[in-house]
Amino acid sequence: MTETGVVLTDIRKSFGNLEVIHGIDLMITEGSFVVFVGPSGCGKSTLLRMIAGLEEVTDGEIEIKGRNVTDLDPSDRGIAMVFQSYALYPHMSVRENLAFGLKMARTPEREIDARVRAASAILKIDPLLERRPGQLSGGQRQRVAIGRAIVRKPDVFLFDEPLSNLDAELRVSMRIEIARLHRELGNTMIYVTHDQTEAMTLADMIVVLRDGRVEQTGSPREIYENPANTFVAGFIGSPRMNLLKTEYAGDGSAWIGKNRIATQIDDKQVAAGDRLTLGIRPEHMNVGTDGEGTMRARVDFFEYLGGTQFLYCQLEDGQTVTAEHRSPVPVQAGEILHFRWQADDLRVFDAEGLRLRPLDRCTAQRGQSI
Ligand SMILES: Nc1ncnc2c1ncn2[C@@H]1O[C@H](COP(=O)(O)OP(=O)(O)OP(=O)(O)O)[C@@H](O)[C@H]1O
Ligand SMILES: [Mg+2]
Repeated sequence: MTETGVVLTDIRKSFGNLEVIHGIDLMITEGSFVVFVGPSGCGKSTLLRMIAGLEEVTDGEIEIKGRNVTDLDPSDRGIAMVFQSYALYPHMSVRENLAFGLKMARTPEREIDARVRAASAILKIDPLLERRPGQLSGGQRQRVAIGRAIVRKPDVFLFDEPLSNLDAELRVSMRIEIARLHRELGNTMIYVTHDQTEAMTLADMIVVLRDGRVEQTGSPREIYENPANTFVAGFIGSPRMNLLKTEYAGDGSAWIGKNRIATQIDDKQVAAGDRLTLGIRPEHMNVGTDGEGTMRARVDFFEYLGGTQFLYCQLEDGQTVTAEHRSPVPVQAGEILHFRWQADDLRVFDAEGLRLRPLDRCTAQRGQSI
């Protein structure tokens, strides 16, 4: 059995009489990299700050490494937090910034020295130790902020959007550094972002939040391939999954315009006339020839990205779809295309937006084109 790093039990938070976190349960495995992702205002920072002890919980319990820390001060929880705003002391050198927390905790001088040296080596900031924060680039400052967390030797690292002040290129390189840091240190890390590329690439486990509730937890692959509902389906993935509104026609199919689409859903699950949403990712939309079960669409415009193209198209009923087109065959705006996909790549959601799975996948014809 793996030791449990962080456990949240029925965590709630209200500001005044407005509840913003509505009872969250979460088990975070020791040593894993967990990413909280979700739209602005969904409660990511509030949840992280409650784990840090910077915000009191209104209700519920927080355990770190088997210890109930719900009422402990931040400094007694074995955590270190890295913020988006680096929060460095401007009048101190990098070395002094790194050492400051340890000095306050009356750590012996020799120990401070050793820890600062170790952190500086991990982050490759030796040449910067005597500079002031004002003499550093954004990426260098963020590295120092991370260094300040490392010297504390926490059980759990907490990151709140640490890269969002950096430019695109630096974000990519710092993202890789953070992944490397996790591999080297092996600590539990909880990372907040609304950048889904960061979520997908860094996480062992993604927690998708919306309006103070967990919508789904799972590995990046589980979340991407098997979103539990239309919210997660539309949130993770760029360009987003096509979510087409339709009605169940009976006999396992649904209509889109004049086209009958096989859904692998069954009359036992839904009734004819029930609303359904069909989900299909842009990379699964293949341009084919006209025929049974294809989706007819007109190209409104396209984006050429070198290795690939995104086609933004309109169906006959006015709904829009995005297709990723890898073929070198050029496509013109205004052109009519017929899309096909593998039956297994279709995701079906009910009227409430919850995923419907095919009842008996063995009898479904796998890989069939529709
Ligand atoms: N101190 C506060 N007082 C009142 N309401 C607050 C306070 N802090 C946060 N909130 C509210 O709680 C909700 C969650 O906020 P939070 O900062 O956790 O969101 P977030 O997911 O981190 O968003 P973002 O991606 O924009 O950083 C929001 O509706 C916010 O307005
Ligand atoms: Mg936030």
